[in-house]
Amino acid sequence: MAQTPANIELKSDGVQLVIDLSSGTPVVLHWGSDLGPNLDGSQLNVAMQEGVPHADLDTFQNPGIWRENARGFLGRPTIQGHREGQDWSQMFDIVEVKTTPTNIFVRSEDKAAGLEVAANFEMTPSGIIRISQTLKNTGSSHFSLNDLTTFLPLPDYAAETVDFTGRWVKERQPQRREIQVGTWAREIREGRSGHDYTIIQMAMTSDANYQRGEVWSLGLQWSGNTRHLVERQPTGRTTIGAGELLLPGELQLAPGQTYEAPVVVAAHSETGIDGITDRHYRWLRSRPKHPSRVRPRPLTLNVWEAVYFDHNLEKLTQLADVAQSIGVERFVLDDGWFGARRDDHKGLGDWVVSEDVWPNGLKPLIDVVKSRGMEFGLWFEGEMVNPDSDLYRAHPEWILHVGDRVPPEGRFQQVLDITHQGAYDHVLGQVDAILSEYDIAYIKWDHNRTLTEAAHLGQAAVREQTKAIYRLFDELKLRHPGLEIESCSSGGGRIDLGMVDHADRFWTSDCNDALERQYIQRYTQFAIPPEMLGSHIGPTHSHTTHRTHELSFRAITALFGHAGLEWDLTETTPEERKILTSWAAYYKANRDLLHSGRMVRIEQPDDSAFVHGVVAQDKSRAIYALATLRAMPGMTPNALRLEGLDPQGSYRVKMVEPAGSPRYVHRQMPKWLDGVVLTGAALAKVGLRPPILAPENAILIEAERI
Ligand code: DGJ
Repeated sequence: MAQTPANIELKSDGVQLVIDLSSGTPVVLHWGSDLGPNLDGSQLNVAMQEGVPHADLDTFQNPGIWRENARGFLGRPTIQGHREGQDWSQMFDIVEVKTTPTNIFVRSEDKAAGLEVAANFEMTPSGIIRISQTLKNTGSSHFSLNDLTTFLPLPDYAAETVDFTGRWVKERQPQRREIQVGTWAREIREGRSGHDYTIIQMAMTSDANYQRGEVWSLGLQWSGNTRHLVERQPTGRTTIGAGELLLPGELQLAPGQTYEAPVVVAAHSETGIDGITDRHYRWLRSRPKHPSRVRPRPLTLNVWEAVYFDHNLEKLTQLADVAQSIGVERFVLDDGWFGARRDDHKGLGDWVVSEDVWPNGLKPLIDVVKSRGMEFGLWFEGEMVNPDSDLYRAHPEWILHVGDRVPPEGRFQQVLDITHQGAYDHVLGQVDAILSEYDIAYIKWDHNRTLTEAAHLGQAAVREQTKAIYRLFDELKLRHPGLEIESCSSGGGRIDLGMVDHADRFWTSDCNDALERQYIQRYTQFAIPPEMLGSHIGPTHSHTTHRTHELSFRAITALFGHAGLEWDLTETTPEERKILTSWAAYYKANRDLLHSGRMVRIEQPDDSAFVHGVVAQDKSRAIYALATLRAMPGMTPNALRLEGLDPQGSYRVKMVEPAGSPRYVHRQMPKWLDGVVLTGAALAKVGLRPPILAPENAILIEAERI
């Protein structure tokens, strides 16, 4: 073994990682709060050596990050695989350690098994730790890798976990449960992250809420199949893990080949879930290409719910006229402009402008849009093909499938095998041609079905398909500088920390019902900042839930995201247009704050309302929303507490109505609405008495330091 230090640590922004190397394998002694300037890691190591119980191995074993069975570890190993039944059990010894103030890199090998593993821990300024692992086959025959999961230890007092489930139009429903002995695993096998995806899995103290308690989280920078898990062993020791879910035979490492596991994103907070959110936002926003750093997020009109497949220049021109008068900055033509795509049964795969609907190409429409001061966006679904399409007729073999079986259709479509060079070139070529011919600033890229029997020439291919779509997006951006991509997948079916590096916006959900959006946006925003989440004012009567909501509720809900509209604006009344114009101006005037501040969600005594806000990083100003979700239990509402401000600072607080009035149910309004001056501490602890709102309504409150 090379000469290595006994232990090493990384620290940033109140987070510390301590790794001990003295046993010949890296052992994470601590991941969590900063343990202080005088911590002696070797003493911590001594303190953590356990007693040896009866009926166990004779000496204490701490298996380290690779959790080898050979070191006596009996839980789930980090690496699972074999070489024709051999080399399934490894024991890795350190051969290289490299450290910088922000990185720890450890490489270990098992010469006999012909394998080499490496892990890099990168501490970001916001306290997020990004962990990259690789496995290299140094043997002389193929190694079948079944799994490489990254684990981090949790303290014994991490008592509960939170993950998410969901479905179309109801993405990201949280599930909180007690951690008990065993493995709680959330697996995604649908070839995309999915509506049911856990963007980050959390472990927390039982008292943890938005503002308080200790929380640990792991996220995965990956958009394919995934596994998130928490494991408590009979020893009482608990770990949290995440990794790519590999299908049988999917990864056959050839001699000399290296598997790069998706990066795992680890966050820790002593200030509840909001602290986890804050670290994710600061990390994502520090990336030079983060969309709101590149330019303010343009107010968007998507015409899908206005016209669906019924494309007509006259109607779209009317929409563009109203959009211009309101202040819309981006106009998006959705599904239905290409091939034989007059409904969702045919045409996917033929990315050529339809002469039936657009006899003179898209130029007349784009001219209309541009002449009204807006940029143009266009919809694609390049990874899919309808069997009723020229592409499928020419290349029925270019779909992901096994043997002679054709997978069951989903929305009348199959998944194009873009790991096949011909299929990849076809999509890239046709999309590139459209982007080269027309002035298109943005594309919405859809993905409307799950992957089943996802194989290339019989071998499971979700991993390669995922890498191919990343490559394709990156190539399109390279060829068309400034192009923005929205990742859509029947709404929020492909929102994850992998896609953040390839797309600029996520379509959060096909549900534009403001009540549902309150939940969907809140939980998606745990890890994804609002400027990346498309959030549109939908029609008065929701197309997905058939509920009816006040315009003010829909507008305030849409404000906390990358705002837009998805509504037949030609049907709006003059009064509604006036409100939309005022709302659009408010969004533009405040998006710098909304897209850069710290998100706070304020605990409520019951489930009848949400209160959330965005507070400027310097705490000079904030915008909060109170949204009523159902009838309140009391005669008057709970105090409206505004947390997150400087407790010592004085703030002028007032209610604003940039999007019309909500439905009030009172005989007398509270007195503070036009302005009151209070300290941040008073606002957080005592709060204000809000006006009485009917259920499913919202108000906006501004705070400004004086
Ligand atoms: C599903 C998307 O989520 C919708 O927004 C819309 O683009 C349709 N597909 C178009 O087919």
